[in-house]
Amino acid sequence: MEFTKEKLLRIEREGFYNVNVNPRLDLFEAIEKLKKEKNAIILAHYYQDSDIQDIADYIGDSLGLAQQAEKTSADIILFAGVHFMAETAKILNPHKKVILPDLNAGCSLSDSCPPEDFAKFKAQHPDHKVVSYINCSAGIKALSDVIVTSSNAETIVRSFPESQKLIFAPDKNLGRYVAQKTGRDMILWNGSCMVHEVFSLKRILQLKEQYPEAEIIAHPECEEPILALANFIGSTTALLKYAVKSDSQSFIVVTESGILHQMEKDAPNKHFIPAPSEGTCACNSCPHMKLNTLEKIYIAMKYEVPEITMSEELMAQALIPIRRMLDISAQAGL
Ligand code: 13P
Ligand code: SF4
Repeated sequence: MEFTKEKLLRIEREGFYNVNVNPRLDLFEAIEKLKKEKNAIILAHYYQDSDIQDIADYIGDSLGLAQQAEKTSADIILFAGVHFMAETAKILNPHKKVILPDLNAGCSLSDSCPPEDFAKFKAQHPDHKVVSYINCSAGIKALSDVIVTSSNAETIVRSFPESQKLIFAPDKNLGRYVAQKTGRDMILWNGSCMVHEVFSLKRILQLKEQYPEAEIIAHPECEEPILALANFIGSTTALLKYAVKSDSQSFIVVTESGILHQMEKDAPNKHFIPAPSEGTCACNSCPHMKLNTLEKIYIAMKYEVPEITMSEELMAQALIPIRRMLDISAQAGL
């Protein structure tokens, strides 16, 4: 056994660190074997490393992942993504084991909206309904009337009567984009994603000069001046589908760089250029998403830790707006 009981308990509490796995082990084979033995599935977001995407049973955006979590018959869900995504899977499956390979895989956007502060903010607007982006904690979901993702936010906001006043949390960029698309006047929580807010307008314009034929495709978590340049705006899945279908041969991709793996797989003859961030950092790579590794997935699958847990009361409250989102999405054919 690679881990002592003490170390496993610490992993359970704090997430992973110093993972040493026998370098001769074929991790792909070992993980596949464990999946079968345990009736487990791996759900992975497009922002995961390529090797994790390649071992996943399903790869998707936040809506697709929630829909897969809702319908799986597996006993164990290993979530290759970040904490709020695994929490959502657990809320939809309170009796299944949901494992996140590294509990420290958080989200700057989710962290920008602490439930105590949001509860006070909500209390100041008692006549408003709360629409929350899925990138938030279970505590925020429990305070919300409906959850949205970047795939369905516009449809769900339109499902409210025009006279209904709305709060949109926590992403101000997606909120502003949806408000513009729907003409709805929404109060926005002041949160943002550390990856999508640091793309460099200047450097994207320079790329466009270098590749004038390239289409700019962007995620709605980006800031307004970037979205104003984009030929197409959509969720991660929508960007992938658009790039595959479009007649264009090259794309400047303004979202987390993990999506390029599927774009290159699904459209191998096209040219995908990751949009650069400000400065010299590799900020178009989400540090939270990248905490998961194949080694951690192997250990997490083998020892079934670290597990996502929440109180039954919190799960029951958070389930209501998630269910509403899934129902409206199903009715709209999303
Ligand atoms: P989608 O999965 O809805 O495209 O959102 C992207 C994202 O930032 C996930 O953390
Ligand atoms: Fe959160 Fe942004 Fe990372 Fe998505 S890309 S998990 S929104 S920090």
